[in-house]
Amino acid sequence: MTYKQKIQGFEIKENPLILAIETSCDETAVAVVKNGREVLADEIISSASQHAKFGGVVPEIASRSHTTVILTATKNALKTAGVTLNDIDAIAVTEGAGLLGALLVGTSFAKALAYSLGVPLVPVNHIRGHMSASYIADKELKPPFISILASGGHTAIAVVKDYYNIEILGQTKDDAVGEAFDKVARVLGLPYPGGPNVERLAKDGKNNVKLPKMLKNYDGSPYDFSYSGLKTAVINYVHNETAKGVEINKADVACSFQCSAIDVLIEKALKAVKQTGIKTVAVSGGVGANGYLRENLKKQAGDKIKLVIPEKKYCTDNASMIGAEGYLQYKKGNFADLTLNARAVLPLEY
Ligand code: KG4
Ligand code: ZN
Repeated sequence: MTYKQKIQGFEIKENPLILAIETSCDETAVAVVKNGREVLADEIISSASQHAKFGGVVPEIASRSHTTVILTATKNALKTAGVTLNDIDAIAVTEGAGLLGALLVGTSFAKALAYSLGVPLVPVNHIRGHMSASYIADKELKPPFISILASGGHTAIAVVKDYYNIEILGQTKDDAVGEAFDKVARVLGLPYPGGPNVERLAKDGKNNVKLPKMLKNYDGSPYDFSYSGLKTAVINYVHNETAKGVEINKADVACSFQCSAIDVLIEKALKAVKQTGIKTVAVSGGVGANGYLRENLKKQAGDKIKLVIPEKKYCTDNASMIGAEGYLQYKKGNFADLTLNARAVLPLEY
């Protein structure tokens, strides 16, 4: 029987043990997740330091690093979880979106594992994975909830209506918020990865640089974002002041940018609560690790809104979130055969 024929007959287990693989960018991540919510192991081997001198991720370096360390990451994850490959009920893997070569390492590895073990191969959408990290953060969490999705490639306010249906209320029209953090970091001379470094510098600064209000006179969705204008305003400010011979206070620039970039995320999430009557807000994506976002969301939400703020390691790229979303897809019997291909672009809705 071929693997393709076998897919039809796979049993869907009650409490599956899933080995999850994530290689969409510069992190080789492997996790062992039980029942979609319990993380038994969460391994990450990052190639970030190899990209630092180039100021951003170099796709070829990321791919090569994945091939070098994916086996070690898997062995470590199994060891930490105290299980063997024979205990694994399914292999979940990030199908996209991400760097094509990097994704291919993960999908090829996952295919080989699923085939050799004779278990289902579950393709996972990376962004849906970020949102499903909320189920790890709060083991009792059930939809509906409002999700703030803030990553390096996406920015959105969404309603997670049930485990499979997501309604996007608004999203970015241009740059993602994480992308803006990375670009502002660059103009301030901060090393890659930008977001955490901007946050660190912002702690010593004041919110005193005037930056434009986002999407003024815009007649699209009130939940939409535009980070390109904000980023350009910061870049122009730095260049203009420098050209005038004025020494800029980098910490103030970082702080002012961070306030503008984050306040609007909080504002729109709370607006969604008001409009929908859904009183749970979950944070997801790499920018969710930002301390200013986490603290101010808590302050502004008050005690009538339930917040789900995953540990920082489950906001940035990790494989546990792929295991959490993979579990949902597994339960639905959404299995791939060995023709599964990596997809650089993958829409949030499917
Ligand atoms: O979700 P993620 O790990 O990868 C994508 O799927 O894009 O997000 C990465 C983004 C980067 O742009 C990074 O600068 C940003 O998240 N980021 C942060 C922080 N930590 C990571 N941005 C602001 N503050 C942080 N502490
Ligand atoms: Zn991500």
